Amino acid sequence: MDTIHIRGGNALFGETRVQGSKNAVLPVLAAALLIEDVCVIDNCPRISDVHHMLMLLEGIGCRVSRKNRSVTIDARNVSDDTMSGENVTGMRSSITLLGAMLGRVGEITMAYPGGCVIGERPIDLHISALRRMGVDICERESNFTAKVRKLEGTVIRLPLSSVGVTENVILAAVKAKGVTVLQNAAKEPEIVTLCEFLRDAGAVIEGIGGSTLIIQGGHPLHGVSFRIPADRIVAGTYLMAALGAGGHIFLEDAPSAQMHSMIKAAEQIGADITVSREGLNIMAQEKKRAIPYLRTEIYPGFPTDMQSLIMPVLATAEGVSVIEETVFENRFRIVEELKRMGACIEIQKKSQALIVGTDSLLGCEVSAQELRGGAALVIAGCMAQGETVVKNCHFIERGYEDICRDLQNLGVTIYTG
Ligand code: EPZ
Repeated sequence: MDTIHIRGGNALFGETRVQGSKNAVLPVLAAALLIEDVCVIDNCPRISDVHHMLMLLEGIGCRVSRKNRSVTIDARNVSDDTMSGENVTGMRSSITLLGAMLGRVGEITMAYPGGCVIGERPIDLHISALRRMGVDICERESNFTAKVRKLEGTVIRLPLSSVGVTENVILAAVKAKGVTVLQNAAKEPEIVTLCEFLRDAGAVIEGIGGSTLIIQGGHPLHGVSFRIPADRIVAGTYLMAALGAGGHIFLEDAPSAQMHSMIKAAEQIGADITVSREGLNIMAQEKKRAIPYLRTEIYPGFPTDMQSLIMPVLATAEGVSVIEETVFENRFRIVEELKRMGACIEIQKKSQALIVGTDSLLGCEVSAQELRGGAALVIAGCMAQGETVVKNCHFIERGYEDICRDLQNLGVTIYTG
């Protein structure tokens, strides 16, 4: 069944391991396509977005095998007669295949990835960046074809620090003729992971972790064994669950160094957090304080993916909080569901949510409409009095290996229906 049942209102106690990062592994899997060799990716999370990406890679000629959380990708036999662009169907992360396919084979026809409830998700910046590298792109009503004989290194300055566009330019640039300088690049940890994977495979990339990347194209790439870091947003999800419901938890393998902004917000609300090499130790204080103004920003600011996840926590904090969403244009869909649970939230100026803290939330039936909003409803269920039933949980499975298993490890009464 596509539902999760939670009996909330009790503090969390226990420890759980944090899975590998969805947003790091997807571009790394696409990058494996550039390497005419065998790559082994460890700590690969078992989530539906990875499953779909592996199917796409198989559809274009890669041999893929998986043993537990280790995925082996043999891309030695991908060639333009084994893959037809039509295999690549619309899935958000498939847009990351664009740069890799151009780098490997020089042509791809794919459907527009399509928007989702959090925003239009256009690809205009992907197209303009790749055109600057010599790619000819023919756009049609429902799909587009990108073709290039030889990618050319060039200077590209992004109008905004898009994660996906940064990834596509990197993937194309490692195979381009000459040097590509990418300015105003995204600095998210997932970009660093992609660059480290490609550097291990023989690519020459300077400025990793900064906003200007210099990629020398044409260096031969060889197979690598690579471990995906833990998922900072999944770790942040369980951090917020403990903050909201109270208690004392330990998140093994949590990538603390990538979580400064969310740890700072949690301490502002009322948590004592200890960082160690092994993970994150969180003690939630009884009283939760509001955050007068919290703004989502590109890394290292407070992540947009954490915005829905902190909302239920602030809904029961003492005082008034304002969250400003600056990255996506429609990322407050969860507000109506939280109001049904008793939250007092109003949207103002389209990009701001004003939250007046109430004593507690009340369990009821709610519906997930996208990945992080769905996970946020599970957090709300952990905090609420009584039972909460979250429907449409397939959205949550896109990014969480097993949110019920992880929260059961933390003492929550939760099960799939
Ligand atoms: C990545 O999406 C993540 N997805 C998102 O995580 C994350 O929220 C986002 O980065 C921001 O951090 C993956 O990594 C698979 P963007 P992406 O391009 O690359 C606009 C999750 O929950 N834009 O940085 O699509 C865009 O509309 C997901 O795991 C254009 O206008 O995000 C948005 O407003 C949700 N034109 C802004 O840029 C373009 O051509 C930032 O988007 C591309 C983007």
